[in-house]
Amino acid sequence: MTVKKILTEPDPFLRQKSKPVEKVDNDLRLLMDDMLDTMYNAQGIGLAAIQIGVPKRVIVIDLLKEKDKKNPLYFVNPEILWSSKEDATYEEGCLSVPGQFAEIDRPDKCHVRYLDYDGNKRELKTEGLLATCIQHEIDHLEGILFIDYLSKLKKSLITKKLSKQKKELERIVV
Ligand code: NI
Repeated sequence: MTVKKILTEPDPFLRQKSKPVEKVDNDLRLLMDDMLDTMYNAQGIGLAAIQIGVPKRVIVIDLLKEKDKKNPLYFVNPEILWSSKEDATYEEGCLSVPGQFAEIDRPDKCHVRYLDYDGNKRELKTEGLLATCIQHEIDHLEGILFIDYLSKLKKSLITKKLSKQKKELERIVV
């Protein structure tokens, strides 16, 4: 298992639409293992494959409710079958939008269909933080970031800040 580099905004790759997975095989499980390691290493609770440069419809999540007990969830080709009319609001961040947070409204509950780590068909009825996290990650598969829900002004301020940070980082790494 390997910790991979996480792409950050602004990176055009993050705007790409990810492609459906045809088969859950050992190569895909290796990818999911790497994604999980990368996510734990960065102290995130969710990661989409596109964030490490792989445009496949795969996400991993671990809400890390219990500090010492890992509870990884794997979603291959996730699809939202139903979502509630009522919204929930969470302050969201993203490993691809480092250091930036904003309150985002999303449906409070949703039902998801997906393939698990072994390629079995599954359905999950979910709500609250997990529902929000799944929706955030599925957005990544469509090339959408949480900052896209903000006003144009707020979004451009964040993008400018991140571009500047990136340039400064590049200057240090010589
Ligand atoms: Ni994210």
